Amino acid sequence: MIPTNVFAPDSTHAWIIYKFSMLVFAITGAIFVVVGGLLLYAIVRFRQRKGDDKTEPPQVYGSEQVEIAWTVIPVIIVIVLVLTTARTIHEIQDAPRPPGALEVTAIGRQWWWEFRYPSLGIVTANELHIPVSDRARPTPTFLRLLSADVAHSFWVPRLAGKTDLIPNRVNEMWMDPAQPGLYLGQCAEYCGTQHAKMLLRVYVHSHEDFARWVAEQKAPATIASAADSGRRVFETTACLNCHAVAGTVANGRFGPDLTHLMSRDTLAAGAVKNTAENLKLWIEDPHALKPGALMPPMHLPEQELDALVGYLVTLK
Ligand code: CUA
Repeated sequence: MIPTNVFAPDSTHAWIIYKFSMLVFAITGAIFVVVGGLLLYAIVRFRQRKGDDKTEPPQVYGSEQVEIAWTVIPVIIVIVLVLTTARTIHEIQDAPRPPGALEVTAIGRQWWWEFRYPSLGIVTANELHIPVSDRARPTPTFLRLLSADVAHSFWVPRLAGKTDLIPNRVNEMWMDPAQPGLYLGQCAEYCGTQHAKMLLRVYVHSHEDFARWVAEQKAPATIASAADSGRRVFETTACLNCHAVAGTVANGRFGPDLTHLMSRDTLAAGAVKNTAENLKLWIEDPHALKPGALMPPMHLPEQELDALVGYLVTLK
């Protein structure tokens, strides 16, 4: 896991923003030092002393040179900041799409992420898998960002700046991570009760590993006959109104696609580890793990609950 750090960019988008913010820091830091230094000098040098005669010091009115200086210098600073901002925005928003680019649609939902790979026919949730993009073989990932309900914001600090997901609007962003690994992110726009548990995981793979992941995800769910009783529970209760399992009758769209549920490391948008125990807890009472979650408690008899978990853990 690669620790989150806004000062350690690992992708062009994040790198451009980092470079720009360092320039802004340098300029504003210099202004701070000059203004703060003069203020400090004046406070110390002209402080009240014993024996002061309490008369006003000589007053100076109208110095053309000083007035020109404090008008021209800030104007130059603002022009530099405006031009570099415009260049930064252009570099990020008008980036060319090389032929190997991957397209992913990310949909923000209360309170989880849906990821759809239209060219690959893959649908998954919360854990975004993308290929590494090196100079030898640039394969950036271009994201179309949508929202199913309220405004969310996609933010993986080491890979790119924040981009909002807004209902009835398509936003775009991209990333080209330079090294494989697991990058963490987070919804960065307050979107309701569980905004804090709308976590993001971006798995950056080598090209071979990414191809393997794609092949696994494209395969239909493999359903062991031993899990038949659990499957029956799943398909005869409300589960299938919201969840889909490719190759079965379940094709709900409101909740996460469960075709390859067990290929994911976490449950409930990173709230807890994806284990059989947590799955059982989650189905029994989602609000115990994530108060306010939109999945209702299923109130299943213990035997059916165990069978259902037994079925879900086979969805590899
Ligand atoms: Cu989604 Cu905050």
